[in-house]
Amino acid sequence: MNQLDVKKRLGQFYTKSKVSDYICSKLKPGEQSSMIDLCAGDGSLIEPYYQLLTGERITACDIDQTNISLLNKRFPEIKALHTNSTDARKIKHLFKSYDLAVCNPPFITLKFPMSWNSLLEASFHFSTLKYPAEVLFFLINMRLLNEEGRLAIILPDRVLTGSKYYEFRKFIFTTFQICSITELYSNAFKNTEVKCHVVIAKKTKPEGSTINISKLNENGALDPTITTNIDDCIERSDYSYHKSILDLCCKKNSLESIGASITRGSKCKSAFHREGVRAFHTDSFKAKKQNGYKNMSVDNIHKANKGDVLIPRVGTRCLQNATMVTCNDLVFSDSVYRIRAPQEHQNKVWKFFSSSAGKQLLVSISKGVSARFVAKADLLRAQIF
Ligand SMILES: C[S@@+](CC[C@H](N)C(=O)[O-])C[C@H]1O[C@@H](n2cnc3c(N)ncnc32)[C@H](O)[C@@H]1O
Repeated sequence: MNQLDVKKRLGQFYTKSKVSDYICSKLKPGEQSSMIDLCAGDGSLIEPYYQLLTGERITACDIDQTNISLLNKRFPEIKALHTNSTDARKIKHLFKSYDLAVCNPPFITLKFPMSWNSLLEASFHFSTLKYPAEVLFFLINMRLLNEEGRLAIILPDRVLTGSKYYEFRKFIFTTFQICSITELYSNAFKNTEVKCHVVIAKKTKPEGSTINISKLNENGALDPTITTNIDDCIERSDYSYHKSILDLCCKKNSLESIGASITRGSKCKSAFHREGVRAFHTDSFKAKKQNGYKNMSVDNIHKANKGDVLIPRVGTRCLQNATMVTCNDLVFSDSVYRIRAPQEHQNKVWKFFSSSAGKQLLVSISKGVSARFVAKADLLRAQIF
């Protein structure tokens, strides 16, 4: 297996020092604290702690021997263990041994290790054949902490926003004290553009009914903290979304309340292409032209007419686009949403989605780790004017 394959299979994407320093400033060690990193990699998260703690108080694990050799060179006094941290038999002796844990787990799926049979209070509706590693690592880290121990874990966006993770969010937000959730700027990691959050949790019962969420910017500054109800955080706990809700709370109308409908195209661009049909796609917004997409062979339910608004459903940079349709029978791909509002609201809907507030809304309600997508339910509910 070549280097790149190993990197992908083991999720070897490393944290930039701005994020490691931020984590250390939020999860401050006491002089006598012991700490562990179960997925240490090149030691990015350990670095700031190495300045504050004596090396022998730090344990670093990694499944890759190359990383262990690197860690031994970089931090000679620490305990570096070459081990599979998801194997309960190999790390059982470390249970309840640490005051602090830091972790940036690989964002991969794995077969749920049988050695952890008793780890899960609930299955969270994940299959044992395709279990998200980040969920497993959260739970394992909690096992390693002392009674009042604290964990800082980097989690991909899907854990905080995805509907599949609802039960998991409910479990961790109602079982542990969540000290803070911080959304990270988009290129916080080396060689990848994944959207992530730092969750800091204490292994004690929740103390109140709120969670503080914020956002770390590229310049190292934090956006003002928003205090949110745990119940709202269980629905979604990304800062961008809650900020957009706050910004829009003075508005009263959503697409749902004005009776608008949202429809995505019936097929992907290439499927249309194979049938000789040209479909308006996410890459069509930039050209600002609508001719050439008219087609009578596609059913009317999946075509756009004059007055409809088209917006991208997926993408990263293209999410800030929108266009108002100026012709009839325009075919669009399944990466595009058609918003059809009652005639009296059409101009207001277009005014909103063509404004910077509308563009910002699409970016902030979008979900996903690298390729972002806008969920229809979130779009229908958003207050727009
Ligand atoms: C996302 S990287 C994080 C590295 C480092 N902590 C950082 O933040 O830059 C994940 C690391 O976990 C290691 N890893 C993957 N699966 C593992 C496993 N089952 N047990 C221990 N380490 C593992 C990978 O080799 C990789 O170095």
